[in-house]
Amino acid sequence: MSQRRAVIAGTGSALPRTRVSNEELARRVDTSDAWITERTGIKFRHIAEPDETTATLAAEACRKALEAADMDAGDIDLIVLATATPDNTFPASATKVQDLLGISGCAAFDVAAVCSGFLYALSVAESMIRAHSANKALVIGSETFSRILDWEDRGTCVLFGDGAGAVVLKAEEGTRGVLATRLHAAGRHGEMLYVDGGPSTTGTVGKLRMKGREVFRHAVVNLAEVMHETLAAAGVAAEDVDWVVPHQANARIIDATVRKLGLPPEKVVMTVDRHANTSAASVPLALDVAVRDGRIGRGDLIVLEAMGGGFTWGAAVVRF
Ligand code: UT7
Repeated sequence: MSQRRAVIAGTGSALPRTRVSNEELARRVDTSDAWITERTGIKFRHIAEPDETTATLAAEACRKALEAADMDAGDIDLIVLATATPDNTFPASATKVQDLLGISGCAAFDVAAVCSGFLYALSVAESMIRAHSANKALVIGSETFSRILDWEDRGTCVLFGDGAGAVVLKAEEGTRGVLATRLHAAGRHGEMLYVDGGPSTTGTVGKLRMKGREVFRHAVVNLAEVMHETLAAAGVAAEDVDWVVPHQANARIIDATVRKLGLPPEKVVMTVDRHANTSAASVPLALDVAVRDGRIGRGDLIVLEAMGGGFTWGAAVVRF
């Protein structure tokens, strides 16, 4: 049925200049390439230099997404940026991105849902488009998690990386676009994955803390459930899916989740080996990789999913 939907008109991404291999990390941290590869699938991560921030990476990803969509920044009437590592406590990094893009006046705000942030941001932006509150939106996931890692904690510091991904959403009548999104949260699990500082508690930025094994267990269950739920809401079957673009936290979580859905591994976009876990940036970064290398094309049915601190989790079904 033809109706107003938010269509992904372009994708873009940006990575910090510096890439760090497991071997390089093992010279500074008590770990090994073998442990990281076997437990997570990660081989490399990009780490931001001082001049590279969440907002500058986001702006670079946006410029590429706008170019891919054949649009000017001036066409944009909404910017939603998902991040847990904003440049400043306030203003929202989305407003900084707006300024870096040389535009002014349109709505711009941040969404904080950690690793599921992009799914939350996409859901908010597509709802606003369907409600005629916006016509052309930039939806971004951008993070500099390297700034909140405890480099003495080998259980977490080897897992994360920095980067940004963005999509341009455009209102269109038709059958393409975001077909369904579903979002969830369970605040009682807050202490499983959190940052031990903040403006209203310690007055400091804090460092990331995680009970990895617990997060792993919840992730597989929650992600499989929310994918089922979102596919049903979109009225499509798992076997109709062309590509799954999952949150890139751990190759073992991704494998276990898609197995639960009965989907073959060939339909999964995997970038955790080269980006590590970039939190809110991971889904749009992986999406951009698969669009640019020609795997994902117009008309493909794709499923995006993520789970992270909060806990928060969500999924989206999109006719690309
Ligand atoms: O974005 C969403 C949030 N994050 C996630 O989704 C991450 C979810 N969790 C995971 O991916 C996995 O739980 C981890 C990769 C974090 C850990 O894998 P695991 O198989 O659950 O390992 P573990 O935490 O049970 O640790 C096993 C062993 C421990 O040694 P002992 O106690 O068995 O002797 C750790 O001390 O591995 C040790 N270890 C390490 N060894 C070398 C932990 N970190 C490292 C390390 N290098 N970096």
